[in-house]
Amino acid sequence: MADRRPILLDCDPGVDDALAILWLAAHPELFDLRAVTVAAGNVGLELTVANAQRVLDLAGLGDIPVHAGAFRPIGAPRGKISMVHGKDGLGDIGLPPATRPPAAGHGAQAIIDTAHSAGGRLHLVATGPLTNIALALLLDPELPSLIDGLTLMGGAAFVPGNTTPAAEFNFHVDPQAARIVFENGIDITMAGLDVTRQAVISPQVMAQLSGHDAPMRGLCGKLLKGYRDPCLHDSVVVAWLMAPQLFESVPAHVAITCVPGEIAGQSVAATTERHLAGRSPNATILTRLDQRKFEAMFLSSMQALERRL
Ligand code: BDR
Ligand code: CA
Repeated sequence: MADRRPILLDCDPGVDDALAILWLAAHPELFDLRAVTVAAGNVGLELTVANAQRVLDLAGLGDIPVHAGAFRPIGAPRGKISMVHGKDGLGDIGLPPATRPPAAGHGAQAIIDTAHSAGGRLHLVATGPLTNIALALLLDPELPSLIDGLTLMGGAAFVPGNTTPAAEFNFHVDPQAARIVFENGIDITMAGLDVTRQAVISPQVMAQLSGHDAPMRGLCGKLLKGYRDPCLHDSVVVAWLMAPQLFESVPAHVAITCVPGEIAGQSVAATTERHLAGRSPNATILTRLDQRKFEAMFLSSMQALERRL
């Protein structure tokens, strides 16, 4: 397994974060998951941390360190509570509780330490508000040179937002963090709503998952029943890392709006020479995905995980 890619997942589980974790866990031949860092987002920090642990345990990855990170965004504390993922953040389906305390050390410090120990090869994967990664960048100016890139779910470049007409949830929750991340010279792949809205959970897949006796497919069916969103947003980052040939993308300069209110967290993407106005692209924005192949890959990955457990 010499070519396994060292990765660190920063997340806020969340049902679709949970499915991304299961998908990553299905492919130890590709992904060397070194640590999971957690921020508040879909629900409060205590729950997002416990949820990351609960899902890792179910996926047979209970030995991966889970570090608690930011309990609130860098800018204004969050006002609205999201009910998309149920009260407990995992669809209220009664998953077993987390059985251990989080690993020692703040999530932002864990990002820095993991990057240093991976010798420049660490790839960051982010599926929540970018608070921990922004804090890590503020703490360690060397960090951008130590990571091999960041693939994130967040933003809405060419389509409307989901939390406000202008902004996607992860960027809207912590616009200042998103701005810091996009202004730090990291090689970013942005899987925003432009592409994740195409990752629709089809009725055919739901029918295959609901009530399945196989453990992972059954679990996915239950989680998805408690999820009030039609798309598997966070799983798209895993599909991209595994099969970039299923996607189309465009280089862009992305600027994040930090004005409070409805436009907080808006991702303004410049792609033409005129709009770039001399700036270089700071991100690759995913724009299209082969939904049928995405879905097939998801199902076969859950079967692969069942064989491993
Ligand atoms: C994003 O918001 C959260 O609700 C999901 O987990 C995903 O990361 C989609 O906008
Ligand atoms: Ca998420």
